[in-house]
Parts: sequence; C-alpha cells; structure tokens
Amino acid sequence: MTFSKGFFWGSATAAYQIEGGINNNWTKFFDAGQACDSYNRFQEDFDIAKSLGHNAHRFSIEWSRVEPEQGKFNEKEIKHYQKVIDALRKRNIEPFVTLWHFTNPLWVKDISQWGNYINKITKSLKGVNFWITINEPEIYSINSYLKGLWPPKKKNFISYLLMLKKFIKAHKQAYKIIKGNQPNAKIGIAKNNIYFEGWPISFFDNWWWNEFFLNKIKNEQDFIGLNYYFHRHFPKNENKEVSDMGWEIYPEGIYHVLKNLKKYNKPVYITENGIADSKDIKRAKFITDHLRWVEKAIGERVDVRGYFYWSLLDNFEWAHGFGPRFGLVEMDYKTMERKIRPSAREYKKIIENNGL
Ligand code: FCB
Repeated sequence: MTFSKGFFWGSATAAYQIEGGINNNWTKFFDAGQACDSYNRFQEDFDIAKSLGHNAHRFSIEWSRVEPEQGKFNEKEIKHYQKVIDALRKRNIEPFVTLWHFTNPLWVKDISQWGNYINKITKSLKGVNFWITINEPEIYSINSYLKGLWPPKKKNFISYLLMLKKFIKAHKQAYKIIKGNQPNAKIGIAKNNIYFEGWPISFFDNWWWNEFFLNKIKNEQDFIGLNYYFHRHFPKNENKEVSDMGWEIYPEGIYHVLKNLKKYNKPVYITENGIADSKDIKRAKFITDHLRWVEKAIGERVDVRGYFYWSLLDNFEWAHGFGPRFGLVEMDYKTMERKIRPSAREYKKIIENNGL
C-alpha cells in the first residue's frame, strides 16, 4: 500500500466562492452574491462530505467578516467559524484552514495589514492542527497586478513584484504569530506549481514560478500545500484533452511537480486538484489518473500525506463567475439544492480502499 494509514482524503473550498460576501474587494468587480449559501448550510455540506468518506476538509476564513473595520473584530463571525470547525470535528473530519484565499476587507490595501487578524484568529479558534496562510501567491500577484484580471486590476510589473515580496513577508510574519499562539500547529501555504517542459524556458520558469517563493520561506513552513492544475510545454502544449474551461488535462505533471518538491524535505498535502466538468464525464478518470501519478511519487519517497479535490461543490470561480463546474456535488443555484455527482462516489471508493 502506498497511501499511508491516516492519509487525508477530502476536498477544498474557499470562503468567498461558497459563502459570497458583501464586504470585500471582489464584490464590486465580481459579485458572488451568497454563492452556495454555505455560510448557512455548512452542516449540510459536511454531512455530504462525510457521506462521501472524506476524513479531511479544507476551507477558508473570510477576513472581511472577521475584521470588517481595521482593528475591530466581529466576535459573532469568529464564533461562526468556530462552529464550522466544531462541525467538522464532530464528524471526524480534519480541518485544514486557509487564512487568506484571495479576498481582502475593503479597508485593506494589501496583505501586509493582516497581523492583527492572524493573531486574533489563531488565539480564538480551537481545534485546528493545520493552517494554510496564503493561497496561491503567484496566481494572485500576476492576475491582480500584472494582467489586470482581478481586483484591483493593475497592470504593472513593479507592483507585481512588490506584491510577491509582500506575500513572502506576510507569510513569515504569520508563521511567527501562529507558532506563538499554537506551538503545535502545522503551518504551510497552498502553492500553485506548474509542470514546465521545454528547454531552456522551463528551467527559468521552474525556478521563478515553482521554487523562488518556497526557497524564501523554507525555514517558515512545516508542510507544503500543493495546488496542481497546469502543465506548460514550450513552445506549445498539445492539449489532447481539456476541461470545460479549456485547461489541459495532464495528470503526469503532478508526478514531476511532486518530485521537484522532494528536496524541501517536508510533508506535502495536495491542497487542490480538480476539473471543471459540468457533465461529469471526465472527473472520475481525472481523479484516478492524477492519483496514479501521486502514487508513483509516493513510491519514490515523496512524502505525500493528503489529497484535497477542488472542490466539494460547484462554486463561484472568480472572474469566470458561476459557469465552471468543479464540484463533486452539483449546485442548483436557484434552489440551493445539492446533488452528488457519480464521480464523487468513485472517489469515495478510492478513499474506502485508501488507494487505487
Ligand atoms: C485555484 C484557486 C481556487 C479555484 C481553483 C479552480 O487557482 O485556488 O480558488 O478557483 O483554482
């Protein structure tokens, strides 16, 4: 058996994508409304996750709910997230909690202002062993500050570099604060790594995109969270198979990306991997194929300890809105009805087997 006993199997979500919200920097550009209304329906969501065999779950805390005005904390919202954690614990599902997943309260200029928030949350919330500080720093920096796609829609190379620099600093700061409050907690980031091929560009890109950040924080992380979606072959991808969003399906890439993480000598949790597939015809194979390559990496002694499919539910896919369907569970946004897709049951079989 290659998947360790106690391997974490689950799925991932992010606050704005399933709860919506009104008080953050996205609303005015891309309004998620109440999204899946998971703010009120999280118990139901976790019942589903449980019924699908999940023993871990990744979700995020919405900073704008917790600290709507600078330095003023909303205790009711903190209690809300405690209830979310308790609801998972009650079902024997291990919570992996992301502290920042792309959204800022309106008063915030950038993440460098998050010290109080981190301190407050990790002092208040009990029952969390795994904290993820930042989700996908490179994706956010590039989309928000270089490509102008996400709020604040800037297109400036210097701003892009500065944002990355701020993320590094913010992570280190958070690491210290969390360790102070919870010495036993495990802390990492969710890192969006890509499998690059094609000499010589791949060499530079691999260093810049995959390694630069991790090198900077190597003394301030207990594990590596890996989000794997992409393969880039220079000059051109073959794109034999794609998702509904046109993203290439390239399972082998996860193996190479994992092998490349081995040198950091840290446990790895695959904090995201998933496909937009509204008809649910490719999802089960997508999961199986990726896990086969994960298995190979584990066989070659990469210390992978968990896999979180993106996502539990269809949800608000940022600038793409509600179109893309990533869920193990189908959402009817009119009635808020949740419907389990067949692929979710295939994934359940893998979980029950603790492997393929
Ligand atoms: C990742 C994000 C996640 C989701 C998936 C499809 O980049 O972290 O929120 O949007 O892509």
